[in-house]
Amino acid sequence: MNKHIETVVIGGGQAGLAVSYYLGQKNRPHIVLEQAAKAANAWRNHRWDSFTLNTPNWQSLLPGTEIPGSNPDNFLSRDEIVAYLENYVSRFQLPVSYGVQVQAVRPKSSGRGYFVETSTGRFEARNVVVATGLYQKPKMPAVSAGLSGEINQIHSDEYRNPQSLPDGAVLVVGSGQSGAQIAEELYRSGRRVYLSVSRAGRVPRRYRGKDANWWHELMGDYERTVDQLPSPQAKFASKPMISGKDGGHTLNLHQFARDGVTLLGRIQGMGDHSILLARDLKANLARADQFAADFAKRIDEFIAENRIDVPAEALPVLTEGYGVQEIPELNLADANITTVIWATGFSFDFSLVQLPVFDNDGYPIQKRGVSHHPGLYFVGLPWLHNAKSGLLFGLAQDAGHIAATIDEDALRYESVRKLPRQEARWGKNESELAVEYGKHGICVNAVSPGAARTQAPLEALSTE
Ligand SMILES: Cc1cc2nc3c(=O)[nH]c(=O)nc-3n(C[C@H](O)[C@H](O)[C@H](O)COP(=O)(O)OP(=O)(O)OC[C@H]3O[C@@H](n4cnc5c(N)ncnc54)[C@H](O)[C@@H]3O)c2cc1C
Ligand SMILES: NC(=O)c1ccc[n+]([C@@H]2O[C@H](COP(=O)([O-])OP(=O)(O)OC[C@H]3O[C@@H](n4cnc5c(N)ncnc54)[C@H](OP(=O)(O)O)[C@@H]3O)[C@@H](O)[C@H]2O)c1
Repeated sequence: MNKHIETVVIGGGQAGLAVSYYLGQKNRPHIVLEQAAKAANAWRNHRWDSFTLNTPNWQSLLPGTEIPGSNPDNFLSRDEIVAYLENYVSRFQLPVSYGVQVQAVRPKSSGRGYFVETSTGRFEARNVVVATGLYQKPKMPAVSAGLSGEINQIHSDEYRNPQSLPDGAVLVVGSGQSGAQIAEELYRSGRRVYLSVSRAGRVPRRYRGKDANWWHELMGDYERTVDQLPSPQAKFASKPMISGKDGGHTLNLHQFARDGVTLLGRIQGMGDHSILLARDLKANLARADQFAADFAKRIDEFIAENRIDVPAEALPVLTEGYGVQEIPELNLADANITTVIWATGFSFDFSLVQLPVFDNDGYPIQKRGVSHHPGLYFVGLPWLHNAKSGLLFGLAQDAGHIAATIDEDALRYESVRKLPRQEARWGKNESELAVEYGKHGICVNAVSPGAARTQAPLEALSTE
């Protein structure tokens, strides 16, 4: 038998929990369905042991709570963010159902609403909020399939600590935040490390006395909206390398080279016994250097324009990486590489949502999380609305907006339902059935695209 509920939230990560918090504040009936057995699945089961957030605590808080930790400028460890989310669920008694995997979301064939098929049965809901994240599946380049079976290869998603890897050198692929942080941990633990460098930028952790993210906030960077990006694909760009570990520090590939890491170009393919490398190392190092210099220049200009009283600073200029000889191929056996860690990012797949609501990249078509299918929402995705939408920092605004939209819609719906029905007619397009309630406004009920127009209006309404 179907379970009826006003709103189903899919995913009990921070985005789903933030929506649940706001719906609870508004007394809106809902349930959060989470496939994992416990809270904080992404942090608990998909991060390495020493993982530390790179957003300072003042940016890592969920709606309704105080800034976590004792120091707003420090960074939460993996275990601290897990505990914070666990506590959030219990403190606000959020209705999370664990161990329930959602398999499909389909529109009802008549009337507004959705069927949500799950591993434990079917829900029928007026609203569905998809909060399954964008970092869903480890991305492995095709070249990984050609590696010898003797090499231990894992994705950064599976990496836990240096001790769990077999003896020998490690090749880390990708210098985004995961790759750069894991490479640093490995070489500091005494491992011989090779790092295949990609196009990711770099920002200093601190500049002119303040944290990089403090400057981002002050300069209004987080308010940049998705329509200001140079292209829709820019949403998916790798973030500049930086670390929150040990109180936060800058990651600089020249320093890695100075400390003995062998920097390599991008991995292009497989030879008979070796990995083929692009000759782009210097270009990518220069790119990261320029990124950091541009960031500092913007801050300097901002400080000058706004006459902010902070100390002067010149970023250290390191150049060791430019002295590295670029090599076209690397024989893993000769280099004694026993492990390859693919820090090559994540892919996403929303195919469980069986509605035409995705663009050519597979990203949901929506405006601030509100799709054009009535009652279908998305939350927690990078650049959903603005530059902070994919961060803990942006959840309060986006989740609050979605919960407010659901609440307004429900209140309107409840008020018109109490009135005597005056007239039913088809709306502007065939997928809409409008019911007019005299002077009291219009309640629009979307039926699924392509639903037969001959369907009796009242029958369609009675399924609501
Ligand atoms: C390595 C890494 C580090 C990050 N570090 C930071 C940071 O320092 N600061 C910061 O602000 N942000 C950080 N982020 C971003 C952040 O973790 C989230 O991506 C973002 O906040 C969105 O959260 P979410 O709840 O949408 O997604 P997630 O945290 O991924 O949660 C999605 C949840 O949905 C569940 N789920 C998925 N599919 C289903 C299904 N079919 N049925 C039921 N449940 C399902 C999953 O089990 C999971 O619990 C990081 C991301 C990554 C990948
Ligand atoms: N809190 C933290 O401290 C922390 C730590 C890690 C990650 N994160 C977050 O997690 C998310 C994912 O980060 P991520 O670093 O895992 O993934 P990512 O940002 O997608 O970076 C993946 C990197 O792999 C590179 N790459 C892909 N194929 C390659 C190849 N064949 N050879 C060499 N390099 C290759 C990409 O290079 P190109 O771009 O050049 O293609 C890219 O730089 C981000 O939002 C990030 O902010 C946060």
